[in-house]
Amino acid sequence: MQSKILAAFIVLCMLTRLPVFGQEVQLASRILPLPLVLKAGEGHYPLPEKIVIYAKTLEEKHNAEFLQAFLKELGRTATLTSDRKKANISFVIANTKDQHEEGYVLSVEKAGVYITASSGAGLFYGLKSLMQLFPPNDSIMEPLRLPLVAIQDQPEFKWRGAMLDVSRHFFPISFVKKYLDFMATYKLNTFHWHLTEDQGWRIEIKKYPKLTGISAYRAETLIGSQQTYKNKDFKYDGIRYGGYYTQEEIKEVVAYAQARYITIVPEIEMPGHSSAVLAAYPELACKPGDYKVQTRWGIFKEIVCPSEETFQFFENVLTEVAALFPGEYIHIGGDEAPKDMWRESTLVQEIIEREGLKNAEEVQGWFNQRIEKFLHSKGKKLVGWDEILEGGVTPGATVMSWRGEKGGIEAARHGNQVVMTPSSHLYFDHGQNPEPHSAMEPLMICCYLPLKKVYSYNPYSSELTPAQHKFILGVQANLWTEYITTTNKVEYMMFPRMLALAEVAWTPYEKKNYQQFLQRVSHQLPHLDAKAINYRIPEPTGLDSASIKIESDHALIQLNTIVPDGVIRYTLDGKIPNETTHLYTKPFLIPINRQITISAITIAPNGRHSAPVKIVIP
Ligand code: ACM
Repeated sequence: MQSKILAAFIVLCMLTRLPVFGQEVQLASRILPLPLVLKAGEGHYPLPEKIVIYAKTLEEKHNAEFLQAFLKELGRTATLTSDRKKANISFVIANTKDQHEEGYVLSVEKAGVYITASSGAGLFYGLKSLMQLFPPNDSIMEPLRLPLVAIQDQPEFKWRGAMLDVSRHFFPISFVKKYLDFMATYKLNTFHWHLTEDQGWRIEIKKYPKLTGISAYRAETLIGSQQTYKNKDFKYDGIRYGGYYTQEEIKEVVAYAQARYITIVPEIEMPGHSSAVLAAYPELACKPGDYKVQTRWGIFKEIVCPSEETFQFFENVLTEVAALFPGEYIHIGGDEAPKDMWRESTLVQEIIEREGLKNAEEVQGWFNQRIEKFLHSKGKKLVGWDEILEGGVTPGATVMSWRGEKGGIEAARHGNQVVMTPSSHLYFDHGQNPEPHSAMEPLMICCYLPLKKVYSYNPYSSELTPAQHKFILGVQANLWTEYITTTNKVEYMMFPRMLALAEVAWTPYEKKNYQQFLQRVSHQLPHLDAKAINYRIPEPTGLDSASIKIESDHALIQLNTIVPDGVIRYTLDGKIPNETTHLYTKPFLIPINRQITISAITIAPNGRHSAPVKIVIP
């Protein structure tokens, strides 16, 4: 922490009186992601019936208006003032150069509430923390009052990302905005919008109307899990599927994101995952063919040819994309591009000879470098999946490491910027149940990625030196949507894991603590309920071999739930618990002279059930 900020912070702590330890733990459980430094004071600041907010500059007013809208939802009126003396809550941008550009100081004092930062983004994050100090609805807090506290906070990582694949399944802009709201609440700042795929192209490009006329629609969609089909006897639903965003809609989403200090990184895939492009513009393939928008999932050999026509096409597309998105990055995909079609192509052979390349893989490197040069001419930087390393990468490219951390480590060693997004820890299309294909879960692609594993992630790989860590730009979770057909299911897959992502991205690794994090999650669940977010109800804890105490011929069963006012129901006969089975009220002993299966569920106050957890003992 820089000295001036520290000094200001110490003064604040003195103003709010001496820290109170129990209160501190309690307050720290209310702010997620966990702030860098939090000091609790003694007492409260009562907010009057009519609240006055100080804001003078455009950025200050912009943030004050968010607070005004928030207070209105709580049934309060708030007005803005440019007279600091009249205010209950003040937003101040102070040009302290040593303040982190996204950092803030939030203090609730006897005399009022103050948020100071060196930027609008910093104020916004201070505001988000302040909002978390309010209850999910004000019915339980009359009169409205805020606990005295001093917070000094800043993010660990610059790129705090979440990706949404809108190509496998399409989501309307109303939901994209809701997704941006989720991100903003938890101080995530980079929305990676996966807009093009084999199964659908989702962005209007004026120069190429067939991208929306043809590429945006598939004839039908595979039914069920692709892995369960044995002899490729695939079954389809026979229903035409698709959609796209107009440029006007994109502009609306960009403005919505900007207002929340979120940068959008659009992804335009090349040269692979381009069946949908070829369905509309088959002349971009290395050989003529009857190309189709794909109707099932996986990796396809239909990729664009590295011809001058293809460069022309992508340069025209990227020109429109660059004009729509003000952020500095454009993602060009680059993953999973089988070279079968390139190896058979005389044009690709000519490129290999002319450019002195070794093989078709290196042609992809050459292709990317040309695209990168073009992006630079538009003032943009290139991001690609870690496959872009394989054909040779320029130092200017940012690498998104998804096949584990290997690509990210290699890239950081080369001095490339890295965004860590290993599928092992950050692919939110993976299941949250040890049995991902359990009948208690909706259909999903595979795997087991529980909250705890997401939380455990450290983007600073131990294989890199501290000097190399500075190339780790940040971290991101990805939501691929082959099997995620509805917005409800997006929410189910995102939550509560997005809360873990938020701390991985914001809070220094050394400050993280899973048990304390669970308390913060517990506090957030009613907030998620208030916004009608379909989060996955966490299972009860305590039914694992580490938690169960065996005492000669008995086992002590002690269950717990982080769901506020949630109840636990259990069975001892292997059946799935429900509202009619045993109610857990206190720890109990069961004899272990024979094998017994204990199953338990949490039932949330809104009646939703968790998946069951079970254990067989002894
Ligand atoms: C990826 O998951 N194919 C980047």
